[in-house]
Amino acid sequence: MDTTSTENTNAEDTGTQGTGTESIGTLVVLGATGDLTSRLLLPGLGRLLTEQPARRLRLIGADPAPRDSRQWAEVVRAAFDSVDATGPAVDHVLDHAEYLVTDASSAEDLQQVLASATGIPALYFALPPAVTAKAIDALHRVSLPEGTLLALEKPFGADQTGAAALNRRLLSLVDEDQVFRVDHFLGKSTVLNILGLRFANYLFEPLFNRDHVAKVEIVYDEQLGLENRAGYYDRAGAMVDMIQSHLLQVMALVTMDAPQSVHATDLRAAKTEALRAVRPFAGDPVAAGRRARYTAGTIGDRRLPSYTDEHGVDPDRDTETLAEVTLESTTWRWSGVPFVLRSGKALEAARREIAITFREVPHLPAGLDGHLEPTVLRVCLGPDAMVLELNVNGPGDPFVLDRGRLSADFGAGRLNPYGEVLHGILDRDPSLSLSGEAAEHAWRVVDQIRAAWQSGQVPLEEYPAGSSGPQTW
Ligand code: BG6
Repeated sequence: MDTTSTENTNAEDTGTQGTGTESIGTLVVLGATGDLTSRLLLPGLGRLLTEQPARRLRLIGADPAPRDSRQWAEVVRAAFDSVDATGPAVDHVLDHAEYLVTDASSAEDLQQVLASATGIPALYFALPPAVTAKAIDALHRVSLPEGTLLALEKPFGADQTGAAALNRRLLSLVDEDQVFRVDHFLGKSTVLNILGLRFANYLFEPLFNRDHVAKVEIVYDEQLGLENRAGYYDRAGAMVDMIQSHLLQVMALVTMDAPQSVHATDLRAAKTEALRAVRPFAGDPVAAGRRARYTAGTIGDRRLPSYTDEHGVDPDRDTETLAEVTLESTTWRWSGVPFVLRSGKALEAARREIAITFREVPHLPAGLDGHLEPTVLRVCLGPDAMVLELNVNGPGDPFVLDRGRLSADFGAGRLNPYGEVLHGILDRDPSLSLSGEAAEHAWRVVDQIRAAWQSGQVPLEEYPAGSSGPQTW
C-alpha cells in the first residue's frame, strides 16, 4: 500500500494573541530551579518565542534556592539553546530575566514577586501539589493584579474531593477562565489531530459510535523507569500520573460530540460533557481495573532494579507502575463500547497510540479466503502518524485477503507540547486547559477504581522490567 507523508503547514504566528485580549506581560515560574522548569517549560518557551519574534515577555524565576538573576538567565539560556531558540523575543527574555528568592507559601514573598511584574502576570506553579496548595492559600492574603492567570501542573488535587476544594479556593481568587489546569497531552499535535480527523472528514465521524466500533484502546506504554522521581511518582502511580491526568482527556476528545467551535468555551464544554458520561465498564470498578509493578529486569542495555528497590520508594504504598482500566461512555452514541486506557513504565516497547477497532463485517462473501481481522484506525502519539489497517484483495491471488495499511506520517508540530501549553497561557486562551469540572470528573472515575484497589479486591501483580507486562494479561 502507498505511504503518504504530510507536513504540518501552520501559518506563521506573529506573536499577537488570537483571542483579542491583552496578552501576558510577565511569566512567573514558581519552582524555577526544578526539573520540570529546565527540562520542559523553558525549552517549550524557547520554541514559542522563536515562532513569535514580536512577543515581548518578562520572565521571573521564583524559588527558595539562593540564586541571582545572572544565574537564572544562564539556566534559561541553556534551555533555549537546547531547542536552538533564537530571535528578538528570545533575546528580550534573556536580557530581562529576573530571579527572586521566594518562599511560595509566604504571602509577603508572593506580593514582592507580583510587584516586580509588568503587564498582566501569569503565575505558573511548577511545584509539588502540596506546595502549590500552600501557595494558593497564601495568595488569598495578596492583592492580585487585575487579570492575573494561575497555571497549575498536574495532579490537580489528590482525589475528587480535593480537586473540588482546590477549585473552590482558586475560584475565590480569580475567574474560571483565569485558571489554567495544565495537561501537556492536549498540547501534543497528534492528540489535537483527533479534532481534524473526526470533524473535518466525512469518512470517520459517522462511524464513531456503538454501531460500528467494537473497542477503543488508549495506550501509553513507556520504556522509561522511575527516573529519580520517587518523591512524586511513588504517591501518584501510573493511574494518577497518566490515566487521571492525561488519558481520560484523550478519551474525552475521542468520545465528545462535535463542538460548535474549537474555541475555549465550546471545546471545554464538549469535553466536560463527555467526561461526565464516563464510568467503569458495566459500572463494576473491581472488574474494570488491573494494576502491576515492575521487578528487576533489562530494557535494551539498561538494567533496572525492582521498583521497590528504587531510591525513595516505600514498598508499603503498593504503588502500581502499570495501570489498565476499562471504561465506558454512557451515552446513546457509545454505550457498551469498552474503552481500554493503559499506561506503564519499564515496558518492553513504547506503544503510544489510540487504536479504534471497528466491528467485524456481518457477512464475508464465500470464496474470499484468508485471515479476516477487523479494520483498525491507529492514531500514533509518537512518532506522530496515523495508520488505517484494512483487509484488501492482493497482492498475489485476488481471492485471498491480505492486510493493507494506509499510513500518514505527520511532521513534527510547530511547537512542542509545552510550547503549545505556554502559547495558550500567554495569549490567555484556555482552550487547551482543563475546566474545573472536567478535572473533578476525571478524579471521580479514577477514585472509584482506586477504592476497589485500596480495599484489596484487585491484586497488585508483577512484571519484569523490559517485559510486556504480567504474563496473565
Ligand atoms: C508526564 C508523566 O506527565 O508525562 C510522566 O508525569 C510521563 O511520567 C510523561 O513519562 C509522558 O509524556 P511525554 O510527553 O513525556 O511522553
